[in-house]
Amino acid sequence: MSQEKSSILHDTEIIEAATAARNCALARFSNFCVGAALEAEDGQVFSGCNIESAAYELTMCAERVTIWKALSEGARRFRRIAVVADTERLTPPCGACRQLIWEFCGDIPVVLANLRGDTETLQMSELLPRPFDAQFLEETRAEKK
Ligand code: THU
Repeated sequence: MSQEKSSILHDTEIIEAATAARNCALARFSNFCVGAALEAEDGQVFSGCNIESAAYELTMCAERVTIWKALSEGARRFRRIAVVADTERLTPPCGACRQLIWEFCGDIPVVLANLRGDTETLQMSELLPRPFDAQFLEETRAEKK
C-alpha cells in the first residue's frame, strides 16, 4: 500500500496508515498483530504488517516489511515511521528493526501508537544509542590502505 502526497503528513495520517496495514497482519502463531507506515521525503507513504512463518524464525516484523517495500520501490530518504500494535504499553520496534531503521532511515522520529489512541514519539537515536552502521566498515577499509 503506498499513496502519493506532497505535503508533510500529520501524525494521525501516518498512524492511520499503520493501523490499516495492521489489519493485514498474518500472525496466527503469536496473535500479535503489528502495522507500520513509513513516510518518504517526497510524501509517499509505504506500509506493512508482520508476516509469520510456520518455520518461526522466518517471521518478518511489520517495520522490516515496510522498509523493504519502500526501498524496493526506489524510495531512499525518509521522514518518519509509525508502529501500531494493540498493547497498553506502546510497542516499540524490536532490536533487529531498530538496526535497519537506523541504517536505512537514519535518526527519524518513531511514532508509537495503540488502538485506543495513545501515542508517543521517540527519536531513533534514543531507541538505538551508539549504533553500528556502514561508517565503521569504511574506517576499516581506510586503515588497510
Ligand atoms: N513484531 C513486529 O512486527 N514488530 C515489532 O516491533 C515487534 C514484534 C511481530 C513479530 C511477530 O510476528 C510478532 O510481532 C510477535 O513477536
